[in-house]
Amino acid sequence: MTVEDLQELAEQEQQRQQKFTHRIMYCAAAGCVSCGSQNIRDMIKKALQEKDLAAHVEVVGTGCMGLCGEGPLVKILPEETLYQRVDEPTARRIVEEHLVAGKKVEDHLVDTSHPFFTEQVKIVLENCGRIDAEKIEEYIAVGGYDALAKAVTELQPAEVIEEVRKSGLRGRGGAGYPTGLKWGIVRKVASDAKYVVCNADEGDPGAFMDRSVLEGDPHRILEGMAIAGYAVGAQQGYIYVRAEYPLAIDRLRTAIKQAERLGLLGNRIFESQFNFRIDLRIGAGAFVCGEETALIRSIEGRRGRPRPRPPYPSEKGLWGMPTLLNNVETYANIAPIINRGFAWFSGIGTPKSSGTKVFALAGEIRNTGLIEVPMGIPLRKIVFDMGGGTPEGTEFKAAQTGGPSGGCIPKEHVDVPVDYESLNALGSIMGSGGMIVMNSTSNMVDVAKYFMDFCRDESCGKCVPCRVGTVHIHGLLDKISQGKATTDDLALLEELCVMVKETSLCGLGQSAPNPVLSTLRFFRHEYDALLKKPEVYVPSGDGHDTTSHA
Ligand SMILES: Cc1cc2nc3c(=O)[nH]c(=O)nc-3n(C[C@H](O)[C@H](O)[C@H](O)COP(=O)(O)O)c2cc1C
Ligand code: SF4
Repeated sequence: MTVEDLQELAEQEQQRQQKFTHRIMYCAAAGCVSCGSQNIRDMIKKALQEKDLAAHVEVVGTGCMGLCGEGPLVKILPEETLYQRVDEPTARRIVEEHLVAGKKVEDHLVDTSHPFFTEQVKIVLENCGRIDAEKIEEYIAVGGYDALAKAVTELQPAEVIEEVRKSGLRGRGGAGYPTGLKWGIVRKVASDAKYVVCNADEGDPGAFMDRSVLEGDPHRILEGMAIAGYAVGAQQGYIYVRAEYPLAIDRLRTAIKQAERLGLLGNRIFESQFNFRIDLRIGAGAFVCGEETALIRSIEGRRGRPRPRPPYPSEKGLWGMPTLLNNVETYANIAPIINRGFAWFSGIGTPKSSGTKVFALAGEIRNTGLIEVPMGIPLRKIVFDMGGGTPEGTEFKAAQTGGPSGGCIPKEHVDVPVDYESLNALGSIMGSGGMIVMNSTSNMVDVAKYFMDFCRDESCGKCVPCRVGTVHIHGLLDKISQGKATTDDLALLEELCVMVKETSLCGLGQSAPNPVLSTLRFFRHEYDALLKKPEVYVPSGDGHDTTSHA
């Protein structure tokens, strides 16, 4: 495949699509598939046959369109009409009323002028709702693999790294480490073999951002990884994806085969000296295997347990070789940065947190689903404008970001800009993108207990502070929530949290106390209210002294 071949393929596909008057995009991501979008596809196809429209209208399965709580979703192109809660009768009506009679099906129409849509800036998710994830030609038709072609044929590896560095992109897996810096470290280490790894473990409860990208735009990840391989000098990549994501695994397998068939993965890519292959490694769904050193061990076929760092994977990773490890969303940003330039990317977001972030918006909020917003957007805009606020009659209380490693942002700080520094200053983290909204009905001690329960179960048990500490912290939270704890228990809880944070071996234990510390910081009164009242001595005067609660 040459650069000219790629351009020709893109033109052929664009011309093929232009033959259709409409493209009906039904959501083929796991959420909508689970509520019957395949039946909707069949019904649309049947109705098109009956109306003699099958040759003029294309029916396409596409990636997540965001409004997951209202699925199955169907979008009509080119007019961009979005329909929600489409059942089989509605599917038929879309064909008969929208396509044949030219009249929109008003009762299922989504108002796309709502801030849920207008406040979004789509880079990572730009192809979801636009292309068929299972056809490489569709990806190529929207500029797919152009960035790889540009990198390999026009740029030196150091120039690619410089572009990524100047873009200000930071790792989307949680910690926000500067991506260009990490790539530069791996590049500099001299070694016969190097590896590129994509962390698609996504273990945070409720998070499905990475899954949606893999299902909706798998080639974007392959392209990002191949560019990374070229930049750091690696010839082999691995995607570590959990077994609970069968659809993402299928789409990745298909995408890898297609890219190999066209020579976009394999030897002498774009007739250069660059060779790069990607294989999948399937994880068994342990949260700790998302931690980079545990993930690497798991790929090596060993038990997925973390090891102390340094050495960091950039220097000594997979099979002891320098390894670049990035998150799915991080790789998804690479092709657009190479195509459109670092200045375009760093112009979005804030000076220290550039670009966008994908969030899975959930909890006590009217509009739930997947959103992609510019970094620095005020939390208020996400909760009240995009999310539509909390259900009627309830009041916003807090938003939890960062899942089991994160914290709660209370309503007094609802105007905080959502960027790495501002969230850290409030004791929370950006995390990988889970955002759970809580209202006046939520009990913050229960919230802390829920996350500690998760960490206790997921602790690998290798080090004592985390293995034993999470059990004790959970026990104390349980005691508090049952109204059986004293002020001494609360003091012990705080002491234990600090100890587990400071002495655990890996990020799981180091961050497990965060939800407790954060709720203690902003909602201590809820803990205090549950404490057992101290017993006081009450002289009875009749010689039978008693105690009573103060
Ligand atoms: C317990 C634990 C679980 C993690 N899970 C994930 C995960 O599912 N996905 C991910 O990308 N990073 C996860 N991380 C962070 C990774 O160790 C690593 O920092 C990240 O993948 C690096 O990619 P980035 O620089 O692109 O963010 C986890 C870390 C810890 C401590
Ligand atoms: S902190 Fe927890 S998860 Fe990490 S190594 Fe120690 S026991 Fe295992």
